Amino acid sequence: MIDMTAPTVRPSIGITALGSYTPERIVPNAHFEAYMDTNADWIESRTGIRERRFAAPDEYTSDVGVGAVRDMLARDPDALGEVDAVICATVSPDAMMPSTAALIAMQVGLAGAAAFDLSTACSGFVYALSVASGLIQSGVARRVLVVGAEALSKIVDQQDRGTAILFGDGAGAAVVGPVPAGLGFQEFIMGADGAGGSSLYLRGAAPQLPGGFQMGQYVGMNGREVFKFAVRVLGDSGTKVLQKSGLTSADVDWVIPHQANVRIIEAAVERFGIPMSKTVVNLDRYGNTSSATVPLALHEAVQDGRVQDGQQLLLIAFGGGLSWVAGTMKWWGGAPSLKASAPALAEVGA
Ligand code: UT7
Repeated sequence: MIDMTAPTVRPSIGITALGSYTPERIVPNAHFEAYMDTNADWIESRTGIRERRFAAPDEYTSDVGVGAVRDMLARDPDALGEVDAVICATVSPDAMMPSTAALIAMQVGLAGAAAFDLSTACSGFVYALSVASGLIQSGVARRVLVVGAEALSKIVDQQDRGTAILFGDGAGAAVVGPVPAGLGFQEFIMGADGAGGSSLYLRGAAPQLPGGFQMGQYVGMNGREVFKFAVRVLGDSGTKVLQKSGLTSADVDWVIPHQANVRIIEAAVERFGIPMSKTVVNLDRYGNTSSATVPLALHEAVQDGRVQDGQQLLLIAFGGGLSWVAGTMKWWGGAPSLKASAPALAEVGA
């Protein structure tokens, strides 16, 4: 007879490869001073951002995503073996159709794998890790390539000082698959509430949608509303996922948060009592790259040796929807692209 009180035994699934890419062009805060009513000090003190990357005019989200996968393959040429599905988390897809995931799959030798985009904005990458884990647990896929990729500079109004200063372009890629027992993903918490949809949106072709969105092509945002939502939801979902995992904040070695505003991160981690010294922050160099922030931060911390085998990680993110997600994982550092390697992105100024 099955013991219904026994804990669920799940296969150990986690990240088995990582890569990242940011476009060459560095855009410092001073760039915005030159043509709009803002200044570099205001941007840095209110957000923590000093510079961000902008994709080249002919460089789109699929190109940025492919860059991250190629970076992974340069460290681990076999990383894509057994990959049966590709998920691209993005809010700046090359097109509504075909999916950016299909375009990336084709370019990295995965044509024929299942491919789809996932649209939960800045929560997208961590949402996609959970979906990938489910596809593997259900037997649909052996491994899944998850790419968080954005070319936000193309969908942000560069004349709007409320948004232009925040966003940048970049991508991170991870393969999700089997890892040694006791390591990998533990628990995820995900949610969304369309009531906040009009606080952060990309106007589409359906003005009848809730919130009365108009035709257009740029991100719209109520920064103060999103700020308040973010602090509350990051704190709440981080606390809940730790409880669900049977952990306390003292067990956490590293928090990898969505990189939107350093003040949001500081306020959120304070709510569950984790010091900033255990929190990975790189928004000073990349700004808010939406679905790419978490993999960019994770990859940087793996490469520079901060995140190590067996450590406890807490991933937290929020974004358009409004959406939120939190996940716990014990890091497996056994594969070639998951080991510390010099020089780190930061050191080569990438
Ligand atoms: O992935 C999620 C994406 N979005 C976010 O995470 C956004 C979350 N929100 C934020 O990060 C912040 O709300 C912002 C950085 C967008 C704005 O910072 P804030 O401290 O909330 O500023 P505020 O909106 O309260 O505005 C304060 C003042 C206002 O002037 P007055 O009304 O006090 O005279 C703004 O007009 O700052 C002004 N302001 C600016 N000044 C210089 C707003 N944007 C700028 C700017 N440069 N770029």
